[in-house]
Amino acid sequence: MIRFRPAAKLDQEATVIVMNSDQAKTAALPVSSKPIRERLEEVIRAKKFEGENGQIFPCILKNKIFLLVGTGSSRKITGTSLRISIRNAFLSVYLKKVKSLEILFPNSSDGLVLAMIEAQLIGTYVWDKYKQKDKNADILKDREIYIIADKKKIYEDAAVICQGVNLARDLINDNADRVTSSYIEKTIRELTKGRKDVKLNVLNKKELQAKGLGLHLAVNQGSVNEPKLIIAEYRGTSKKGYDIAVIGKGMTFDTGGLNLKPTGNIETMRTDMSGAAAVVGTLKNTLALKLKRNVLFVYGLAENAIGARAYKPGDVIVGYAKKSVEIANTDAEGRLVLADAISYIVKNFKPSRLIDIATLTGACAVALGNDYSGLVSNDDKFARQVVHASNATDDRVWRLPSYPELKDSVTSEIADIRNLGFPKGMGGALTAAEFLRQFTEDTPWAHLDIAGTAFNDGKGRWYYGYGATGVGVRLLTHFLQHF
Ligand code: BES
Ligand code: MN
Ligand code: ZN
Repeated sequence: MIRFRPAAKLDQEATVIVMNSDQAKTAALPVSSKPIRERLEEVIRAKKFEGENGQIFPCILKNKIFLLVGTGSSRKITGTSLRISIRNAFLSVYLKKVKSLEILFPNSSDGLVLAMIEAQLIGTYVWDKYKQKDKNADILKDREIYIIADKKKIYEDAAVICQGVNLARDLINDNADRVTSSYIEKTIRELTKGRKDVKLNVLNKKELQAKGLGLHLAVNQGSVNEPKLIIAEYRGTSKKGYDIAVIGKGMTFDTGGLNLKPTGNIETMRTDMSGAAAVVGTLKNTLALKLKRNVLFVYGLAENAIGARAYKPGDVIVGYAKKSVEIANTDAEGRLVLADAISYIVKNFKPSRLIDIATLTGACAVALGNDYSGLVSNDDKFARQVVHASNATDDRVWRLPSYPELKDSVTSEIADIRNLGFPKGMGGALTAAEFLRQFTEDTPWAHLDIAGTAFNDGKGRWYYGYGATGVGVRLLTHFLQHF
């Protein structure tokens, strides 16, 4: 729980004092109690604490913990580095048993307060649902944090937005056989229950068949779970039409299909619904913040399973847009589900813009690594706005090209288009995006490939621990708030 108070009281179990190395030079501390201030200033004058980035210096005064936390030279501080150093302090052994703390700093700024909020709410998230209970885990979750700053709307909004991020993470981290299309539907129903500003449409197998979403159906053919296209129509204004459709890839498990993924690639494929999870988190935030936009939240849910019924490499399948698709590889399944979702949305709702988010290609992760999501767009202004939202939120994106000649990379001898790009293995993030672009009917469109950024399989990075990062939720929420 995060609270705000205008002045420090030093009344909690611990006091965390955040300083950069320039501030540490003057040894002036924002602590009103003279004896405590003098003791801490002694530590600084003795150069035990110099405010270096990542430095943590504990003092015990009057039976209370005072933790000095360094953030480095003010010229080198970034939003990310602040979140990392404050998170390290929150997770440090000194605060392990601390249930409540105050956090202070010489000069307040929005950037610093937002970093504290996210260091706590995003940075201390742990995926431990299936571990035997560690008695300190609850302390971390329930800890009271008093930030010394005046309450502001942007701070409260930031805390709300983090709940959306963590909802997405819970959905991604949990088992594929728990988080099925029905489970995601149930989650969306619970979020939107009793809301007059949302209308839910759920297209199950029967409806998808009746309407001809053949690509979506083909991908799910080998699964015992229901394929679903879920559309939540949110009206935050009385204007006609929709400002934007936000479409998430929701592959609840991606075995690769008959082009089965090998050991080493398959283990994390429960996370192949991270795009849809980001759209669930964004829906939660949109409802909580009552954003003044008309938005379509769209979930393309399927499971790419193997078995006697699974769709086959070499098949030609016709989707909602009536284009035939050569299935060159059953593991390029995300673009098939998204193509049908995009076509369906464009034809039936005509939104002013489209943005899709998907763990679409390993190639994107090879190109950009794990810190930047790929952005592909057919509209420069839209792309700039997405980059702007990215910079404002630390959900980093890097734009990849889309250009006319790419259309030759997805041609087929036997169908209108092919689900695998030419030449084999080259520019896979671009050719996957080109495939999607051909279903947009020239609607201004942006595509986020989060295959490299959605999940940390290992010890974590930045201020994220093991598991899902919830990438995209902050960016999409910011985008809906501001553009
Ligand atoms: N879901 C994968 C992409 C992926 C890879 C996500 C690694 C997260 C981590 C996607 O469906 C896929 O399998 N893509 C193939 C495309 C290829 C067959 C053209 C890939 O990236 O290898
Ligand atoms: Mn795949
Ligand atoms: Zn996939």
